[in-house]
Amino acid sequence: LANGLSKTPPMGWNSWNHFNCQINEKIIRETADALVSTGLAKLGYTYVNIDDCWAEINRDDKGNLVAKKSTFPSGIKALADYVHSKGLKLGIYSDAGYFTCSKKMPGSLGHEFQDAKTFASWGIDYLKYDNCYNDESKPTVRYPVMTQALMKTGRPIFFSLCEWGDMHPAMWGAKVGNSWRTTNDINDSWESMISRADMNEVYAEFARPGGWNDPDMLEVGNGGMTKDEYIVHFSLWAISKAPLLLGCDVRNVTKETMDIVSNKEVIAVNQDSLGVQAKKVRMEGDLEIWAGPLSGYRVVVVLLNRGPQQHLAITANWDDIGIPPKSVVQARDLWEHKTLERYFVDKLSATVDSHTCKMYVLKPVA
Ligand code: GLA
Repeated sequence: LANGLSKTPPMGWNSWNHFNCQINEKIIRETADALVSTGLAKLGYTYVNIDDCWAEINRDDKGNLVAKKSTFPSGIKALADYVHSKGLKLGIYSDAGYFTCSKKMPGSLGHEFQDAKTFASWGIDYLKYDNCYNDESKPTVRYPVMTQALMKTGRPIFFSLCEWGDMHPAMWGAKVGNSWRTTNDINDSWESMISRADMNEVYAEFARPGGWNDPDMLEVGNGGMTKDEYIVHFSLWAISKAPLLLGCDVRNVTKETMDIVSNKEVIAVNQDSLGVQAKKVRMEGDLEIWAGPLSGYRVVVVLLNRGPQQHLAITANWDDIGIPPKSVVQARDLWEHKTLERYFVDKLSATVDSHTCKMYVLKPVA
């Protein structure tokens, strides 16, 4: 969407994966504090996004959405002011139907212009817009109404389409929003994570600066996967140019989680100015090679072992990953933080353990 936002994929945090409906203004404020104190904000994680369950089930007598009094007593405007005072941005959630997916608050269908105006008056910077309990008209009809409503406010608001289903939002999303879901909800397991990555990959060609495929939010730090599996999760989201929205409790983030989500070199791949989503370029049983171009004639490669067997060799040929034949290439290992000592010609091989990956940036030197 040409609203000047998201030249690179958005980064930040969202309440849903960890807290579901158990949210309140204290959690949101403390999360903003934690993003700053951990250094995550400096690395680019600047959106603080409130998901479902922030509003009263009834609108006020003028039809306005109202923040839930028991959990957000100070209101959303005060929260936005607080989050902005920390140099961060505030996101909120609504739905292109009569209720949101939790059914615990109203949706915006028929109230698009009023709600967009409310969000802008509060100082909202990001809207995630879901598709539950709608009137069964096409999302291609309902979503653009909110796009227009947001544009009419004059405030640049990142517009995240939370719609997948039969309508393939990747095929129309770029005109309507800044990102669109390509999958149903993720959960905190290897199977769920890796299958979201697969479903999202199919739409790679539709991603571009200003509009990104969204395989759902990160589960890193929520406890359901091993450290190596979370490294695979973060690596695949990074090369897929997915939104990097943390879904853990950043107020209690462990060193292990920090090591993963604060890897500057991996973040730089996600935020690369070229904005091209990597693809699976070769599959052999459980072994896969994902690759995509980066700025400066560089290429990012992930060598992935999805299966149970340890210690399998994977070879990336220049031909498969888009490097001209005979090129002499320097390889940087983004998880070891090491530039490999020798140069590579025609191919690069590595042994990869079960449910782990290797991630390299390759740079032709001759
Ligand atoms: C849907 C979305 C989730 C979350 C919930 C909230 O399931 O896909 O990301 O927003 O609704 O109810």
